[in-house]
Amino acid sequence: MIYQSLKILNFRNLVFQELFFYDKCNIFVGDNAQGKTNILEALYLLSLTKSFKTNNINDLVNFDKDGFVLKASFIKNDYTYDLLFSYENKKKELLLNNKKIKTLKEIFGLLNIIIFIPDDLNLIKGMPGNRRKLIDIELSKIDNEYFDSLAKYYYLLKQRNIYLKNNNIESKILDVYDKQMLKYGHIIYQIRKKFISHLEPLVNKYYLKISCSDKLVNIKYQSNFMDDYELCEMLIINNRNKDLKTMQSNVGIHRDDFIFLLNNKEVRDYGSQGEQKSIILALKLALLEYIYLITKDYPIFLLDDVLAELDLKRQENLFKLLNNNIQTFITTTNLEGINKEVIKNSYIYKVENGNCERVDADEFGQ
Ligand SMILES: Nc1ncnc2c1ncn2[C@@H]1O[C@H](COP(=O)(O)OP(=O)(O)OP(=O)(O)O)[C@@H](O)[C@H]1O
Ligand SMILES: [Mg+2]
Repeated sequence: MIYQSLKILNFRNLVFQELFFYDKCNIFVGDNAQGKTNILEALYLLSLTKSFKTNNINDLVNFDKDGFVLKASFIKNDYTYDLLFSYENKKKELLLNNKKIKTLKEIFGLLNIIIFIPDDLNLIKGMPGNRRKLIDIELSKIDNEYFDSLAKYYYLLKQRNIYLKNNNIESKILDVYDKQMLKYGHIIYQIRKKFISHLEPLVNKYYLKISCSDKLVNIKYQSNFMDDYELCEMLIINNRNKDLKTMQSNVGIHRDDFIFLLNNKEVRDYGSQGEQKSIILALKLALLEYIYLITKDYPIFLLDDVLAELDLKRQENLFKLLNNNIQTFITTTNLEGINKEVIKNSYIYKVENGNCERVDADEFGQ
């Protein structure tokens, strides 16, 4: 998958930009607060119609304007697509090849992007919800059954939790919820379990290559669901009284977690900062490969400030892993330390005060 161009109007501090990209590595260089991350945010937004920084779309509108427009063209499996996202008069609109997109499902995964941001450390340190969100997004992009089951499950969960707050609860109604949630929950459990078992060796492979350490990474899938359907049913029945007392649903895949272990020790408790960053990076590289294996097409890779997060050796190892078939967008405050070969084989853009312009690496003394 290749982004060819992006036109930006009134998005954050980027008032008007028209960018043409290289099909390999694109490096955005600039001081702090110039607009580098904003460019990645625009690229990312077009794939999921959501930002990785905020849930409030109004934050994305330039302070002095009322709306924004992003227009991109990208190539996937030899087809060229035009995608336009606009937010004007408080209304979102998404057009694919000039045709209005009504539901997210129509485009989910079409423009597939994997991103690394400094905040990703929360994937290890933060709440289980962060980890579930990542897994849910990645699986929903490549598996329709997962997308549908997840949507149905969370709809039922919301309704069930509302119902549990009622004064007169009929057990027959809860039975209906439970039967449906068991069905979709079990599908989600199975897909998650299989996914983690495929991902784990890939994460190990990339962790070894980035860190040059022989420590073993494990991803432990923690769920109160089980392979046996009847046992899951029993679990839900046995928790009914607790659910009634606490007025919430206490068991099910909405409580799942994914724990990272390094040599059998929990990374969030024992891993160094560098080890944590390297595991996240290995996870993102593993996702790229996994998605390639399933879809026969590499996603686009966005790396925000990744170099500041890694020592020189690990930076070098990362660049060696950036496969020429993966279009990559990297932000950095300077080019120092980046291998000359990498710079020679990249497009370099200078980002200054909301302006982005392709330049020669000489500009930065490289
Ligand atoms: N809605 C908005 N309208 C105008 N400017 C905005 C808006 N939202 C954010 N900004 C500004 O955009 C500027 C650039 O932000 P961005 O996060 O892209 O910087 P950056 O180049 O990635 O910097 P750093 O190296 O510090 O990460 C910031 O000064 C920020 O205040
Ligand atoms: Mg930034």
